[in-house]
Amino acid sequence: MSDAICFYLNGQKREIRNVSPTMTVLQYLRTVEGLTGTKEGCAEGDCGACTVIIGEVVNDRMRYRAVNSCILLLPRIDGKYLISVEGVKNPDGTLHPVQQAMVDMHGTQCGFCSPGFIMSLFALYHWEGEEPATDEDIFDILAGNLCRCTGYRPIIDVARKIACKKSDRFSENEDKIVEDLKSIQRVTALNYEYDGQKYFAPRSITQLLDLKDEYPDAHFMAGGTDLGLEVSKGFERFRAVIGLDRVPELNVLEETEDALTVGAAVPYASLLKSLKKLFPPFEKVVRRIGSNQIRTVGTVGGNICNGAPIADSIPSLMALEAKIILRSKEGLREMPVEDFYLGYHKTALKNGEVLEKIIIPKLPEDHIFKAYKLARRRDLDVTSITGAFNLKIDDKGIVTYARFGYGGGGAIPQLATNAQNAILGKPWTEACVEEAMEAMVQDFIKRRPKGDYRSDIALNLLKRVYVETTSPETDLEVWKL
Ligand SMILES: Cc1cc2nc3c(=O)[nH]c(=O)nc-3n(C[C@H](O)[C@H](O)[C@H](O)COP(=O)(O)OP(=O)(O)OC[C@H]3O[C@@H](n4cnc5c(N)ncnc54)[C@H](O)[C@@H]3O)c2cc1C
Ligand code: FES
Ligand code: FES
Repeated sequence: MSDAICFYLNGQKREIRNVSPTMTVLQYLRTVEGLTGTKEGCAEGDCGACTVIIGEVVNDRMRYRAVNSCILLLPRIDGKYLISVEGVKNPDGTLHPVQQAMVDMHGTQCGFCSPGFIMSLFALYHWEGEEPATDEDIFDILAGNLCRCTGYRPIIDVARKIACKKSDRFSENEDKIVEDLKSIQRVTALNYEYDGQKYFAPRSITQLLDLKDEYPDAHFMAGGTDLGLEVSKGFERFRAVIGLDRVPELNVLEETEDALTVGAAVPYASLLKSLKKLFPPFEKVVRRIGSNQIRTVGTVGGNICNGAPIADSIPSLMALEAKIILRSKEGLREMPVEDFYLGYHKTALKNGEVLEKIIIPKLPEDHIFKAYKLARRRDLDVTSITGAFNLKIDDKGIVTYARFGYGGGGAIPQLATNAQNAILGKPWTEACVEEAMEAMVQDFIKRRPKGDYRSDIALNLLKRVYVETTSPETDLEVWKL
């Protein structure tokens, strides 16, 4: 028999049995609950009009994160605390401090974007960072919400006023909310079925592989930020989906002496702190993947497995010599991340196999590591070129190690091996860097002749590494100018 999808909506328990498992949370709110405060703008994760809050218990405390409900499938919120804009105000009708600040500081014009902004601001109000939110954090958290009336300045003022305040009825009632949520946690897998469609949320890797064996055509879903689009835009009604988010083996995040191990279902938002500590340039690139709402659920595992040449995390993983671990009923396969890509959106993943984890070796202290994403806009834009550079220059100024990962230049993300070989054993001088740039034309860029915009910026990134390492006082971040 099918389980019910069980969650809290604005403080009320829900047990849902009779909707399609590919119904999105946005469709559910608007059509089943009649809660139309949450808006649909783009239905593809870009505008933030559909933002809601997902609360969950972490170390016995509530953590509230903003997500795009337009691409989030309903079974994903089983066991979670969903807050829509209708659930933010106080039961006596008075406004939440975030809403009041939006009124007081004129943060709303036509009002279409306002519910989405309120929810992102709610996440900022309950900021989970250890340090107070900086302006950079505020811009990050708001970058996934678009305002067609361009009323950003007052909204940013609101954000600065309410950031990290935390004090409201949600924090006052935190113990009760934690208790409520704990009461609906399941220990066994969710097996949901409606009208011939199935959704499974296994609780172990063994259950996961058994399910994939039984339903070979089932789609794995980690964050669903790629797969969700197939539902919201492609109107797919998958016959079977296997959610990866509740499998403990895929949620490992562990730092050892030598490496950082990242489970394939760890969302970006949970990974940023470790990346900032160990590979700061990689963290900066990941912070530019989608928006805060996308990073709340999206994963590096999904980024690797979608096989896209523009997947932003791959160049850094390649430059850092990351390995991936694939698991099937036959056992484990380990491979360097670059060997996973066979062609455009074609990977080495076999049916019955799941990406379990990614192992990123720590950077030796004498290495230089740089990573950049170049796109037309700073936020929420598809990359033009992403490049990552891992270099060792010895005390005589000779390059003794070079690995350059690139994405966006060809059918697959790849290492620029010609450029690497051209610079190895040479002095780290402008002339040698220019030779390596010439050699890079023979790498992936041969698909794009010299003079092509992407070729030029890809080559120039190496020059940028040179300028940054030889003249560190030069600030090359254009949006700071
Ligand atoms: C608005 C928006 C903005 C975006 N911006 C960016 C961006 O700036 N840069 C960028 O790189 N990407 C971007 N993306 C794409 C997407 O968010 C990323 O690729 C993300 O990392 C995908 O992760 P996920 O967990 O959501 O993947 P999912 O959607 O869950 O899965 C993606 C694919 O991988 C498969 N899969 C997932 N995990 C596994 C696993 N462990 N084993 C086997 N197969 C698996 C799934 O079956 C599916 O085919 C954006 C997407 C949206 C909607
Ligand atoms: S409707 Fe635009 S992000 Fe969801
Ligand atoms: S107030 Fe009109 S879209 Fe933002």
